[in-house]
Amino acid sequence: MQHFATIAEQRRYSREERRSGRSVVLVPTMGALHDGHMSLVALAKEKGQRVVVSIFVNPLQFDRPDDLAAYPQTLAADLAMLAAAGVDAVFTPAVGELYPQGFATFVEVVGPLTDKLCAAARPGHFRGVATVVCKLLHIVEPDVAVFGEKDLQQVLIISTMIRDLDLPVEVVVGPTVREADGLPMSSRNRRLTASGRTKALALPRGLELANQAFKAGTRASVALMEHVYNELLIHDGVEVDYCDVIALKGFAEVETAEAGSILAAAAFVDGVRLIDHIQLGGPALQVALDEAGH
Ligand code: PAF
Repeated sequence: MQHFATIAEQRRYSREERRSGRSVVLVPTMGALHDGHMSLVALAKEKGQRVVVSIFVNPLQFDRPDDLAAYPQTLAADLAMLAAAGVDAVFTPAVGELYPQGFATFVEVVGPLTDKLCAAARPGHFRGVATVVCKLLHIVEPDVAVFGEKDLQQVLIISTMIRDLDLPVEVVVGPTVREADGLPMSSRNRRLTASGRTKALALPRGLELANQAFKAGTRASVALMEHVYNELLIHDGVEVDYCDVIALKGFAEVETAEAGSILAAAAFVDGVRLIDHIQLGGPALQVALDEAGH
């Protein structure tokens, strides 16, 4: 596995591969890799001939300095996992490489995608995500970029940016990978204490109870959201950040859920911010994403 830390080296590698007729697939990450990331790597290997994984804890997308400082960094273990998975190249730029002195340009998607859920809860977060992903796409020049469905709002924002800026890259979305007990895999899970880990299950459980209620005929968004609140709020140290029912098309909050609507929630569990969502009784997400024009 090749390892690049500079933009020039990474770009030279990508261009050489593409000139030789091999397609390049990028999996952007912030490291602290887990099986969810590795499922994206496996998907990337199916989509092209060369897989590049970037590892960069992007300071621009953290709205709180303490959250950035606490973000887990496990580079040696990450590199070992990527090498074992047969990744071709890893790109690990330093902060000064991507944001040198005088850096002053940002990419911002505006409108309904960025006025609710994580965007409202974390001001500036998606501007940071869009900016770094735009830069990574320019540096790596992949044919395909792979993202996880767990960060649904992020996927939609990145797809919109790619469409609007005419970037020549295909977005592929990998399904959320869950622990055996239902908790979606996340680098942040490592920061949970044993009791926090148990409390965190209230999030997928609440969503699943809401989904069951939906399948049994409940359509009022408040009634569906109540299942999530009820599960979460019985625990000390758990705070609901947001809970909403969203139509994928137009990304609007809806009072009445339909098949395919998204129930999304975020909660702080002993100070660790976790997100999760489900698609209420609907079609596979990729179908809905295509229908939504992403
Ligand atoms: O999902 C993530 O890990 C990050 O938001 C991303 C896409 C790598 C950008 O920093």
